[in-house]
Amino acid sequence: MTEQKATNVHWHEGDITREDRNKLLHQKGATLWFTGLSGSGKSTIAVALEGVLLERGNLSYRLDGDNVRLGINKNLGFSAEDRSENIRRIGEIAKLFVDTGVITLSSFISPYRADRDTVRALHDAGDMDFIEVYVECSLDEAEKRDPKGLYKKARAGEIKNFTGIDDPYEEPLKPEIVLHSDTMSLEKEVDLLLQLLIERGVINP
Ligand code: ADX
Repeated sequence: MTEQKATNVHWHEGDITREDRNKLLHQKGATLWFTGLSGSGKSTIAVALEGVLLERGNLSYRLDGDNVRLGINKNLGFSAEDRSENIRRIGEIAKLFVDTGVITLSSFISPYRADRDTVRALHDAGDMDFIEVYVECSLDEAEKRDPKGLYKKARAGEIKNFTGIDDPYEEPLKPEIVLHSDTMSLEKEVDLLLQLLIERGVINP
């Protein structure tokens, strides 16, 4: 738990509520939290889903590991401590988007169960939907894909603490949905996510 440093600060309620914003957007803000190995397909699925959502008139926004690490989290590396802080900040950012009424597509390896659970708890406390999407892909397959050539570098010892090679990945125990990205088509994956969003009342049928 990150300690509250500033004292004498209080939440300031406005006049417009989350429900007002949801009504405006004809949807319910929610976080889809994609977790899985590097190269498992998290970002690819998020990009495809974002496109389909836009076409049907739903606003979503992608938060993506590499992008966020080039900006707000540029001061963080890949130690266990930094990965936790990375996820904590993304969790808070995702909450702001959900409060805005946006469907937030967060794609981060987020290798530690405890960190993901912390983000889930943050959402629960705010009565917000947190949908954990486990993009399951064997290390073999992710390494074969190696879209950024990073597994090769990690095997050669040029990158330290690389998830799946010399750093752990803790599988989700109770994700809302598992997508087997090494056997399932992208269309099928997007379809399953749309169905889930409809079932949860995030988007209209
Ligand atoms: S997380 O572990 O903190 O959730 P995040 O998703 O933000 O990771 O960033 C992972 C991305 O950073 C990978 O897809 C890869 O492109 C890059 N990367 C660079 N070094 C590492 C590393 N040591 N372990 C994992 N990913 C790395």
